[in-house]
Amino acid sequence: MHKFKKGFLTFLLLMVAIIISACGNSETASSSENGNSNEIQEMTIKISHVVAENTPKHQASLAMAEYIEENSNGKITVQVYPNGQLFDDKTEVKNLRANNVQFIIPDMSKMVGMNPAFNIPALPFIFDSNEEAYAFWDGETGQKILQSLESEGIIGLRMWPNGPKHITNTVRPITGPEDLEGLKIRVQGGQVLAEIFKTVGAGPLQLPFGQLYTALEQGTVDGQVNTYSNISTKKLGDVQKYITTNWGAARVDYALLTNKKFWNSMNEATKEVVKAGIDHGTKQARTLAEELNSEALKTIKERGKMEIHELTTEERETLKEALQPVYDKFADEIGKDVIKAAKNAGK
Ligand code: LMR
Repeated sequence: MHKFKKGFLTFLLLMVAIIISACGNSETASSSENGNSNEIQEMTIKISHVVAENTPKHQASLAMAEYIEENSNGKITVQVYPNGQLFDDKTEVKNLRANNVQFIIPDMSKMVGMNPAFNIPALPFIFDSNEEAYAFWDGETGQKILQSLESEGIIGLRMWPNGPKHITNTVRPITGPEDLEGLKIRVQGGQVLAEIFKTVGAGPLQLPFGQLYTALEQGTVDGQVNTYSNISTKKLGDVQKYITTNWGAARVDYALLTNKKFWNSMNEATKEVVKAGIDHGTKQARTLAEELNSEALKTIKERGKMEIHELTTEERETLKEALQPVYDKFADEIGKDVIKAAKNAGK
């Protein structure tokens, strides 16, 4: 018994010694990573998103990656995964939180569960141009919304645009609100976007981007709303008969998000390069959004797969009026001040 006690005590002391030394080691490891703030840390950064290669989001991600790699003297490797290859709509936020990926760039409609103010780009005709959207998201209210995710372990950095959404379907040309009645429309996410369709008697169905083509092909939904860029790069014209251009009732805008622990683990020198890379990527996203979307519209026209109706100014006004009740319904949840700031942004 005495012998057993002595053995147990020795074992206990040994365990304590191992734990103390392990703590010491991890402290050394983290301080050697962060300690010399003049030296860029060695690391691999992963960026994941769900869209195709020839899109503003992917091209801007590549620009950001290239900038960081080139300016880190080979210390930082940046891997960009398009098309949901790494994580899809359903899993990317969870994996960002777990730091399995360091940057994701979701459509804000998919972030509304964390803060209803991410419904802003879905509010009918809220911004008249990309510039107004930038003014809002770069301004005080927009920045506050982006920073509201810190308690979730996520830092919202910048808004990257794609642009106005346009509508496609297989049933009939959409020229006004009444044409939407009874149609099943796939939506990205969020209560506001769903409400747009409920207001005009259509049935919204939320589906991940990765399931969109098949859902249209199999008739799970009749139509969908998206940017020209996403419609063209995913060849939705192969499974849709009609497109209404100049629809623009809601937007696809992205939030560039990072993991808080990862962000705080970078020393000054590393953060400087990464931040400059983000600025560079943001500039690219904002330059390419309009360019790639007008190229995509040209491609859609050239392919000639869908019958095109371009919404006239009068038809747009009718749609605007029909969707006005959406504002009243969500004013309290999103915040009247937030909506006012968005409406006034860049004006
Ligand atoms: C969609 O799900 O249709 C889009 O939001 C995808 C994207 O990221 O542009």
